Amino acid sequence: MEILSTPAAMTAWSQRARSGGMTVGLVPTMGFLHDGHLSLMRQLRSRVDRLVVSIYVNPLQFGPSEDLSSYPRDREGDLAKCASVGVDAVFVPEDLYPDGFSTLVSVNGLTEHLCGASRPGHFDGVCTVVARLFGVVRPDEAVFGEKDFQQLMVIRRMVEDLALPVRVLPGALMRDPDGLAMSSRNTYLSAEDRARALSIHRALGAMQAAEAAGERRVSALRSLGRAALDVDRLDYLEVVDALTLAPVDRVDGPARVAIAAWVGRPRLIDNMPLGPSLRWI
Ligand code: PAJ
Repeated sequence: MEILSTPAAMTAWSQRARSGGMTVGLVPTMGFLHDGHLSLMRQLRSRVDRLVVSIYVNPLQFGPSEDLSSYPRDREGDLAKCASVGVDAVFVPEDLYPDGFSTLVSVNGLTEHLCGASRPGHFDGVCTVVARLFGVVRPDEAVFGEKDFQQLMVIRRMVEDLALPVRVLPGALMRDPDGLAMSSRNTYLSAEDRARALSIHRALGAMQAAEAAGERRVSALRSLGRAALDVDRLDYLEVVDALTLAPVDRVDGPARVAIAAWVGRPRLIDNMPLGPSLRWI
């Protein structure tokens, strides 16, 4: 497994692979890898000749009062995990952006809701880093987890709008056996908070079950969800159209219920599908 620490070395490596007729896949991450990340790597491993994982904690996507400086890191552990699933190259740039970098990629519409509303500028930072990673790595395919459903939809929009030559695939949301969505930030949870964090999964599950049993009214579904939650501060509990991410009053087509809440130190996010399933193209 190669470890590449500059954009130039990464691009040259990828260029060599592609000029040899090989396809390249990319899984972008911010490290502190868990089985959710590894499942994305396994998914892409079987589809491409050369698999690249990037590990970069992107300052552009953190707000001033967010956890950039304390974001968990474990370089050696991450490299061992990448090796265990057959990654060919790990891109770990110290500096990803060139001197004088002055570009921001901004997707409108989809970013008005959910995390876009509560984390101003966050998705500009995500789109900018992902566009830069696509430019440096030049992958044929990249996978993004449904754990960050809004991020996945925003990246797909950006790729389509800018005609970027990469296929973006969704990756299934992985959970711990008790239902907690895997996240690097779960490491901040005390045992007590972890137990309360499970209420997010319970709330989503209750709403999904009620919808499956015929309850289409979002007001009723939301009351059910709120009643199940035991969190310190709710950021949002929304039912949105799965394609536009705009809030809906009734579940009449593919929808998504999404929750963001603080439990102890971390802000956690999770989501589940409601209604007919989305057909990915
Ligand atoms: P990070 O939070 O490290 O996540 C990297 C990728 O792993 C994302 O596509 C995310 O959706 C996916 N992922 C995280 N937890 C998951 C889980 N439980 N199940 C399935 N997939 C999961 O998302 C980012 O980093 C950054 O915003 C990034 C895209 C790398 C840009 O900086």
